[in-house]
Amino acid sequence: MQYLASHGQEKTGNDVIFSWLARYQNAAAAGASAVNGTVGALLEDDGKLAINTVVDAALREAPATEFSAYAPLKGLPSFLDLSITLALGDHRQDLEALGLHAGATATPGGSGALYLAASNFTERGDAVLLRDRFWGPYAGFLRGCGLNAATYPLLPSSDDSSTPNLDLAAFSDSLDELAATQKSVMTWLNDPAHNPTGLSLTAESRFALLNAFMESATRNEHVGHTLLLDAAYHLYADEPHGWAETIAEALDAGLPWPENMLVCFALSLSKSHTIYGLRTGALVYLHPEQSSVQRLNDVMGVTGRQTWSAAPRVAQHVLSELHATQDGGQAWSDERDRLATLLSKRRERFLEACKQHGVAINPSHDGFFAWYECDDPVAVAEACANQHVYLVPLNGGVRIGLCAVPTSDVERVAQALAAATEAVA
Ligand SMILES: Cc1ncc(COP(=O)(O)O)c(C=O)c1O
Repeated sequence: MQYLASHGQEKTGNDVIFSWLARYQNAAAAGASAVNGTVGALLEDDGKLAINTVVDAALREAPATEFSAYAPLKGLPSFLDLSITLALGDHRQDLEALGLHAGATATPGGSGALYLAASNFTERGDAVLLRDRFWGPYAGFLRGCGLNAATYPLLPSSDDSSTPNLDLAAFSDSLDELAATQKSVMTWLNDPAHNPTGLSLTAESRFALLNAFMESATRNEHVGHTLLLDAAYHLYADEPHGWAETIAEALDAGLPWPENMLVCFALSLSKSHTIYGLRTGALVYLHPEQSSVQRLNDVMGVTGRQTWSAAPRVAQHVLSELHATQDGGQAWSDERDRLATLLSKRRERFLEACKQHGVAINPSHDGFFAWYECDDPVAVAEACANQHVYLVPLNGGVRIGLCAVPTSDVERVAQALAAATEAVA
């Protein structure tokens, strides 16, 4: 295909998640009693897409012009304000009182925010530090911007690590290596409620990671440091604003915020407000200097303009109105709590069933997924599919979409994994 440039030719293959979803759909259409653990959207126990009814009702009342008109290129000011609050929660005021300034640019979903970060915070050819495992599309966002990935392990090698769920030593070593060779370093961390594992860092681990990042920035004052927290699922986590709390704690404890350090949140409203298709999110950034925040507003606004123009308007308008009143915010949060309870009930049942059936499932705390680390994920997923339980084999393990599995079928997933492990051994 000579009409494709070499970088176009590199883009191959169907998304693995959608191909395993198609297998579930074919089995169900053929009449099998099949379990769908493939999709990354929250489904009710009857298999229909879960919808936050408060958001849906508010959207339907929006005036026609809010659907049709462009939004301002950087986003509606009321939505930018809401984005900062959704990222920081009740800690927003504390952080501002501690001298931090926050800014935001509206984006088409969390993906848009990740794209803004990939295109602006590291030099072409440099590596971005990721936790291994990571959401597959990260690799594509980075590659598309001429960047590479460096990784550190998912979990510490010893169980009695002082930073549970975080390999701090490996993180710090990787950071040192990158800071020694690059003009800027950036790390992406999907926490809390990590996709694909459901892991959330503890408060101690968050503090240790932030401290390591601050120290690296202080030691390498000519190297830009960006900590990007991917907040795609945080509003379903037990500690939705744990990162804002940790940042406030660090500042309270007198840790100096180096000028060359930036903290960002890639905020997605796709899941938290069940508006996956309305493509609404924001890149939120924190820095002690107002002038840095203003400069970032321009850089991100221009990048968006050159890529997708403005982000869609309607949800920006409707949600900023909804959250502006206490009743509206409370009604949204009641519905969110209902959905969060559905997820935690499934997870509790699943972890319990894994224990009963001897499945060595990874630690999993919040969000949409659980993870079974294994050497041959395709063989394990195939063996589950033979029992009509459909999961997604990814690099290094199998992703269990608890968000999609009806509560009554959760135990069947654990049983299928137990049988699959035996079959594959
Ligand atoms: C880890 C992670 N980050 C970011 C996103 C971005 O979501 P969206 O672009 O739909 O808002 C997703 C969506 O699945 C995700 O799983």
